[in-house]
Amino acid sequence: MSTYRYQRLLTMLYRRGQGLGSHCLNVGYLVCRVIDILDTGIPHQDLITAAVLHDLGKVAWPDDLFTKNLLSATDRDIMAAHPLVGRRIAEQVWPECPETILHLIETHHNPGNWLPAQILAACDIWVACSEPRANRTKLPDDETVYREMCKVAAEKVVDIVSKAARTQGQHFFLGTQDYRG
Ligand SMILES: [Fe+2]
Repeated sequence: MSTYRYQRLLTMLYRRGQGLGSHCLNVGYLVCRVIDILDTGIPHQDLITAAVLHDLGKVAWPDDLFTKNLLSATDRDIMAAHPLVGRRIAEQVWPECPETILHLIETHHNPGNWLPAQILAACDIWVACSEPRANRTKLPDDETVYREMCKVAAEKVVDIVSKAARTQGQHFFLGTQDYRG
């Protein structure tokens, strides 16, 4: 792995602010817990790296898009494009990036039937629902989070992700004031 290129991408995520860097690391950490339990069929390193870089496409977002509640059609287009934009940024900055990682970044909201992508998508939702956000006053309830994860992953995956997240302590997530369960 070209370590310095990967580190450059990580630096981009952290420099963007808006909690983007800690969100990505939190997802990476939860993925680490899940792959201890579940065989994904791909190298662990690829899935963890993709998890840590999954929201790279948000580094190009304008500030207010991270927090606004009322979204215009343009806002929605920008948001919907971030998985593909993230892939393009990774390709540019890290030309040797394995295709598996690029594909995971691109599909992290639409994983289809591919187990590694389902794990990433479900972990992303769990973490996103557990982090404080400027545009909401309280966390979604557990049932809502479960339902959201079931939209992107098989029930077995969702159960394992939920279990892996709950077996951590109160300090599981960086920058998270609230802890689910
Ligand atoms: Fe995303």
